[in-house]
Amino acid sequence: MEDNIFDKFISQKTLFKNKENLRHNFRPNQLPHRNEEIDTISYNLWEALKGHIPSNMTLYGVTGAGKTAVTAYVCHHLKAKGESMGSQVESIMVNCRQIDTQYRVLSHIGNSLLESYEQDEIPFTGWPTDRVFNELIRRMDQRGGVFVIVLDEIDHLVRKVGDDLLYNLTSLNSSLKKARACVIGISNDLKFTDFLDPRVRSRLGQLDVLFKPYDAEQLQDILRQRAVQGLNEGVIGPGVIELCAALAAQEHGDARCALDLLRISAEKAEKEGENTVNQNHVRVAQSQIEADQMTPVISSLPSQQKLVLAAVLLNEQNGLRNVQTGQVYDIYRQACKHIRQNPLTQRRISGLISNLDMLGLVTARTVSKGRYGRSKEINSCIPANINAPEIMKAAEEEMALVFKAAYHHQTSL
Ligand SMILES: Nc1ncnc2c1ncn2[C@@H]1O[C@H](COP(=O)(O)OP(=O)(O)O)[C@@H](O)[C@H]1O
Ligand SMILES: [Mg+2]
Repeated sequence: MEDNIFDKFISQKTLFKNKENLRHNFRPNQLPHRNEEIDTISYNLWEALKGHIPSNMTLYGVTGAGKTAVTAYVCHHLKAKGESMGSQVESIMVNCRQIDTQYRVLSHIGNSLLESYEQDEIPFTGWPTDRVFNELIRRMDQRGGVFVIVLDEIDHLVRKVGDDLLYNLTSLNSSLKKARACVIGISNDLKFTDFLDPRVRSRLGQLDVLFKPYDAEQLQDILRQRAVQGLNEGVIGPGVIELCAALAAQEHGDARCALDLLRISAEKAEKEGENTVNQNHVRVAQSQIEADQMTPVISSLPSQQKLVLAAVLLNEQNGLRNVQTGQVYDIYRQACKHIRQNPLTQRRISGLISNLDMLGLVTARTVSKGRYGRSKEINSCIPANINAPEIMKAAEEEMALVFKAAYHHQTSL
């Protein structure tokens, strides 16, 4: 029989008990270090089980602080309790990064309330917004009870299209006859309410819950608990959980980042045919994650930004570090000539260098030169395992020319 390329995997030993358990969309049934937040939210939503209107809430915190996981967990318990108590309570969670216009959020909520005997879905587009809104109210009243509307990543939608949706949803109760509604907004941006109309702000901010970033020890507990279900026993080597937690704690205490590190480390170990995950696998996993995040940033830079980054790299290929804006500009101008483009002014390039600094691709430190004034010292800060020239060449053909051409370097200007 012909050999099959998959055969080798069948006999390969796996380190995972259930890999899904280590992914971020998995909903764990325990959430260590979030008891307080769970208590605050569930105490408020307890009103819904009694048939009253809970306060509207805003949940804030950095990404990976467990906001989505905690809310989904509480809503899950709310539903189960509602069913066992015979109270009509429904929660509807909408991710406003994926569903990112007022129309789509309203129609999504409306369509999730469609009774099985009804056929008429609200169309994906085309109705005036107030018609969608009225249809939503009709359906909510028809079903009755209390609705908990969760708008996850609401900061994203508000930044994109403003706060009309929040205005409309937080005034639902004045239009509803039988049903009742409360709104939970979840935001990764701590300053998100600054964008809101004061009326919306006060209606939505009846109860604020701040999710603090996890510290390294808390992340260890989270990882251990998830690892028990996700990995086989005894496969985690000494210091691995601690290292994953420490690295993620540096990265603003992001549990998602900690889980990714652990999962990818275990994948690396498994691929190498090892029986245990060690700290080296974690380091390799970390540099892969870094590369995965940085690659799209580099490849999607606008052309002029790519040229400026190329100019910094070309200087460095020639052994020049701590270069000044003038040296970058000089190489940039030569590069433009090679690909027959008109160069921008040095002033504009200085702005583009600051952009690259903000994106974490270069560091531009301002240093004082005594009586010669101040100047910048510019260095790339792209990790060694990322081949920025190749990424730029793959994204834009002309960049191949830029990196192939000969340059005249001035050591100082
Ligand atoms: N306390 C916790 N215990 C277990 N897993 C957690 C905990 N907090 C967060 N997670 C996990 O970390 C990942 C990111 O959490 P998430 O709720 O999506 O964060 P946020 O919504 O604040 O960005 C998810 O996979 C989630 O299951
Ligand atoms: Mg979230």
